[in-house]
Amino acid sequence: MTFDLDMIKKVYEQYPQKIAAARNVLGKPLTLSEKILYTHLWDGAASQTFERGNSYVDFAPDRVAMQDATAQMALLQFMQAGKAKVAVPSTAHADHLIQARVGAESDLQDGINKNSEVFSFLSSVCDKYGIGFWKPGAGIIHQVVLENYAFPGGMMIGTDSHTVNAGGLGMVAIGVGGADAVDVMAGMAWELKMPKLIGIKLTGRLNGWTSAKDIILKVAGILTVKGGTGCIVEYFGDGAISLSATGKGTICNMGAEIGATTSTFGYDDSMRRYLSATGRQDVVDAADEIAEHLTGDAEVYANPEQYFDQVIEIDLDTLSPHLNGPFTPDLATPVAEFREKALANDWPINIEWALIGSCTNSSYEDLSRAASIVEDAVAKGVKPVAILGINPGSETVRFTADRDGFLDSFRKFENARIFTNACGPCIGQWDREGAEKGEKNSIIHSFNRNFAKRADGNPNTHAFVASPELVAAIALAGRLDFNPITDTLTNQNGEEIKLNEPSGMELPPKGFDVGDNGFQAPAEDGSGVVIKVNPESDRLQLLTPFQPWDGKNITNARVLIKAFGKCTTDHISMAGPWLKYRGHLDNISNNMLIGAINAYNMETNTVKNMVTGEYMEVPASARVYKAEGIPTIVVGDHNYGEGSSREHAAMEPRHLGVKAVLVKSFARIHETNLKKQGMLGLTFNNEEDYNLFLEEDTINFLDLDQFAPGKPLLLELVHADGSKDQIVTNHTYNQAQIDWYIAGSALNLIAAEANK
Ligand code: F3S
Repeated sequence: MTFDLDMIKKVYEQYPQKIAAARNVLGKPLTLSEKILYTHLWDGAASQTFERGNSYVDFAPDRVAMQDATAQMALLQFMQAGKAKVAVPSTAHADHLIQARVGAESDLQDGINKNSEVFSFLSSVCDKYGIGFWKPGAGIIHQVVLENYAFPGGMMIGTDSHTVNAGGLGMVAIGVGGADAVDVMAGMAWELKMPKLIGIKLTGRLNGWTSAKDIILKVAGILTVKGGTGCIVEYFGDGAISLSATGKGTICNMGAEIGATTSTFGYDDSMRRYLSATGRQDVVDAADEIAEHLTGDAEVYANPEQYFDQVIEIDLDTLSPHLNGPFTPDLATPVAEFREKALANDWPINIEWALIGSCTNSSYEDLSRAASIVEDAVAKGVKPVAILGINPGSETVRFTADRDGFLDSFRKFENARIFTNACGPCIGQWDREGAEKGEKNSIIHSFNRNFAKRADGNPNTHAFVASPELVAAIALAGRLDFNPITDTLTNQNGEEIKLNEPSGMELPPKGFDVGDNGFQAPAEDGSGVVIKVNPESDRLQLLTPFQPWDGKNITNARVLIKAFGKCTTDHISMAGPWLKYRGHLDNISNNMLIGAINAYNMETNTVKNMVTGEYMEVPASARVYKAEGIPTIVVGDHNYGEGSSREHAAMEPRHLGVKAVLVKSFARIHETNLKKQGMLGLTFNNEEDYNLFLEEDTINFLDLDQFAPGKPLLLELVHADGSKDQIVTNHTYNQAQIDWYIAGSALNLIAAEANK
């Protein structure tokens, strides 16, 4: 048994009393989100209310999950915390580092060969500190978590932004940086600003070509990539109950694409079915005893406007399939309108590749529905046009889908490639032939993210996001504007055929099965396990603590870069080939901000260095300033740091001498990560002040030496002609976070505590 039933029972035992306390202090019916949040307060039962969108609250999550790319830095940090074992059940998953090239068997072996140093490091750290390790090929973290660990009413954090996927089983599951994971694994509270609540009422029922994916694609179109920021999205209504648990997972997964803190659904029969099918009838029995506490109160769902900060209603009866993209997941287009929009925008229509998989859409149900399209096409004599790549979500899904013939269905598809049960193309781990030529082209996939370069590294690849069944249909047609509801395909006999609507199975009728699921349990007593890091390694580097703050104002700082427009964590710390340096801070810092557009020349990775007077790559320029002892700041636009939870995007600037990041607005996880790493994260009081920053400015902080909660900070900009501007900047640091800043990082404080 991989899951921790005792822990779950303990959580449930305390639920009735903690819910009663929450009702008492809040004095109103409760949403599911409030129930989960108020039963997981660090201080035990609620004794006060917390203001949504304002109060910082200490929580006690039940679990931690880490993927291999982020786990390296998280565990390097945990090793510094001085603890013998993790304080809560935790797992690490080897899924991000395996490249998709020719197919699962050889790709997996290549991945193991190339990353053996990292995998052995993770395996031995997990062994030593009581952490479950899911080996390469075991599956994608969020699919594995859903299959093994997620439970209704639980709270977990994970070092990956799609940790939110576990909302499909009724959790509050939140993506965080490695530093947060270190706090929780070290037995400390985890802090979060009390989220606001968005209620989404689903009515009607999915039908025809529409799938759970289309619900979140529609929501993304409504709320945009910023609309969920600081919010938990809670789904309810008859339409919600009619969805499968993995369908709910898909919806929650892409809540990350609207910036939501997380998304969740109330406990229902779909969750009972899924838990039972994945060997967790014990969890169902335990959950059933407190079932009324594991969903929102009836009064809340009857009058949602009274209890949520925002309410959206979506009628599944009339929802149509969508294609979202390119370059942003919130550009939503119903399939019927796609052709016109593509023509108007000059998006390439023909596709060479279609991809099914990622943590978003790689369940048994997803594969079965996509396979039904392929089977139908084969039976009707259609010759597929594009290449179809498949990444099953886990070895359990792969094994079961293979046993039930779905992989054979795909194999009938000329050019189908079954890749490893891993992230692969979703995180740029795709050795796509010809991508280096940078040709303008389109692809379609069932993933969640479609930022430029994300899948194949080519900035001119237009990636569109759709359901697995629509991806399969479009792969057959080889054209993005193929609408399977109205259009026909020509088969090998020259006949016009229409594809049947997808049909699939929510769960395997013969049950899930697997040979080796790829799980490595940790040693009972890990004290004898030795962890080795070669000092010559270019993949792993033991950390040295960041310097504490000297208590003085920052003066004579330079603008390292003024980033223009979208600046995601992919722009700040690019993935793809850089993934291999995730455990080596100095080496990975050579990718710092190389994807950001410099507002002064509108180019990427070329900034003016005021020491040399020359244009240089961003990391090289930062190293020159650092060597000269000149502090730097980064200026940015809206939603700076959106995307992934990787703390590298905060550690790299800290390592290379950046002292502050000043932006119009932050994505939540990144702002917290900056704070954890002892960096100043500031926002403009007046957004127009962004325009005051000139390339050759010198910046002085005027009152940082009086850094205090709620007190804005004043900056002086000295321009090259000697003129000056003074601007007001805001921050959200509370006293505990200011203490991190003073100590040099949150980890410095933890280590000091452990060493007392
Ligand atoms: Fe992996 Fe892509 Fe999900 S990188 S965890 S499959 S978003």
